[in-house]
Amino acid sequence: MKVVRTVDEVRAELAPRRSAGAIGLVPTMGALHDGHRSLLRAARQAVDAVVVSLFVNPLQFGPHEDFSAYPRGESADLATCEQERADVVFAPNAAEMAMESGVTTVTVAGLSEIVEGAARPSHFQGVCTVVAKLLNIVRPDTLFLGQKDAQQNAVIARLVADLSYGVSITVCPTVREPDGLALSSRNAYLSRSQRADAAALHRALLTGRERIEDGATVEEAERAMQEVLAAQRGVEPDYARAVDPHSFKAPQDEGPVLLVVAARVGEARLIDNLTAHPGRG
Ligand code: PAJ
Repeated sequence: MKVVRTVDEVRAELAPRRSAGAIGLVPTMGALHDGHRSLLRAARQAVDAVVVSLFVNPLQFGPHEDFSAYPRGESADLATCEQERADVVFAPNAAEMAMESGVTTVTVAGLSEIVEGAARPSHFQGVCTVVAKLLNIVRPDTLFLGQKDAQQNAVIARLVADLSYGVSITVCPTVREPDGLALSSRNAYLSRSQRADAAALHRALLTGRERIEDGATVEEAERAMQEVLAAQRGVEPDYARAVDPHSFKAPQDEGPVLLVVAARVGEARLIDNLTAHPGRG
């Protein structure tokens, strides 16, 4: 496994591998957990050269968000990448990525401003800008993303299509704790009791799915999810919505519905989602 710090080093390392086979990129902000591992494994199975990026992107954090507190632990992350047989780890510093200024940005309008984007203005612009840059640096054949960040995936899919990146996207299922809590680097902020409280997000989604599959309306399902979140001590609900999985607007008459929730638990702002099939129950 090769650890590289600069754009030039990535390009030099990948040049011979490009002609030898397919390149996969797993973009991350480090603090790797079993969710990230599942992406690394999917990439290892599917492509010839697995590239992992470790970069806590300042542009995707709002001014009052947790950029400085975000967990960082490069040596543990490198050990994880090695165990999962990554080929190249790109771990640049902030100066190399030159992301601080926010002068040149990439925006997917509309989709970036609703649901999670309404709660975190400029967040998806920060994500798109760094992902566009990583795609230009690595030029992968396949990008590996997690279902955990469903709206991010929809925004990136649009970015890739509209700017003709010619990269295919593989979305891997959300990895969860036994009680349903989705693994997240931000779970590190939770105390033992907050960790237990946080399972309410998944319970809310299960309730919403049951309602939708029993024929309830979107509004009824949203209300039921809000109630589950609000009933849990230690959980401050943000939103609980049932949306179209691609547009994140009101669901179509037919087809699956994506249930999305966000809530604050202690210092952590957590998000999660689940797909429901209307009328299946
Ligand atoms: P990060 O939060 O580190 O997540 C990196 C990738 O891991 C994302 O595609 C995310 O959906 C996936 N992931 C996180 N938790 C997961 C889980 N429990 N199960 C499955 N996959 C999971 O998302 C980002 O970083 C950044 O926004 C990034 C795309 C790297 C741009 O900076």
